[in-house]
Amino acid sequence: MTEKRAIILDGDPGHDDAIAWMLAKASEKLEILAVTTVCGNQAVEKVSYNAQRICTLLGINAPIAKGKRTPLIAEPMNAPSVHGESGLDGPVLPEPSMPLSALGSVELMAQTIANSEKKVTIISTGPLTNSACLLLAHPELKEKIETISIMGGGIHFGNWTPAAEFNILVDPEAAKVVFESGVPILMCGLDVTEKALIMPEDFEAVRAVGGEVSQIIADWLEFFYRFHRDLGYEGAPMHDPCAVAVLIQPELFDLREMCVEIETGGEYCRGMTIGHNRAKPNATVAMGINREAFVKLLIDAVKTYKEAT
Ligand code: RIB
Ligand code: CA
Repeated sequence: MTEKRAIILDGDPGHDDAIAWMLAKASEKLEILAVTTVCGNQAVEKVSYNAQRICTLLGINAPIAKGKRTPLIAEPMNAPSVHGESGLDGPVLPEPSMPLSALGSVELMAQTIANSEKKVTIISTGPLTNSACLLLAHPELKEKIETISIMGGGIHFGNWTPAAEFNILVDPEAAKVVFESGVPILMCGLDVTEKALIMPEDFEAVRAVGGEVSQIIADWLEFFYRFHRDLGYEGAPMHDPCAVAVLIQPELFDLREMCVEIETGGEYCRGMTIGHNRAKPNATVAMGINREAFVKLLIDAVKTYKEAT
């Protein structure tokens, strides 16, 4: 048994964040040291409450810390049209069984990394505000960060605007700090996540697993599917779970080394991630995925909760 990878889950749950966290908790390759939240899909108070409820449901026993109310510089931007007013609309969830940490997200990240005997991987499935603050406030911890695995960006297109993907667009200044930090970056952008589609038959297979967790996961998947179906998608793009799956089974992904630069100006292109090979690579970018094997990975993860009950 190889040593587990120590991780911090940093996100804005968010239906796909929740499914990513389910995948992380189920993996024998990962050890969750801490959970941190960031304003994105909804206000930081809402996503923090969602984080508490997700961790209660999944049995994630790690400290949970609330992030800043705003991005580094920009005004907050939320996505109620996608995830609802609560940020995690749909199935009823258990009330939190744990309080939030007295620390803020950046302080919890810093303390966790400083106290860890091994390097720590940050899995960021929301805007990069927390990671940027960590890198700016604690440069001495850079050498203890194994990788920052992100869901964010898109080399050839955006989703919130034609040029920009939501997580990067919410805080482009933070993304610039992270991509220019020298810390290894693993980027799952729209190029791969919009190929990681969950179809109706897939979330029905999740529902067929049985047990409380599988019903809630299936409800989250169906909620996310309905939003994307109405936009013309044939399935629900599993954006955030890709940032976890790529650490568990990298062989499922087509990975390319690139130099990725972040547009922070521009009237039409703010938040764009420009990937090229005209300078030293600063990121490993996922451009393709074995969808069927990815879906199997998700369903097998759900089954571990059935066995746990
Ligand atoms: O663009 C997709 C990303 O924005 C995902 O992380 C989703 O949860 C939202 O935060
Ligand atoms: Ca997210």
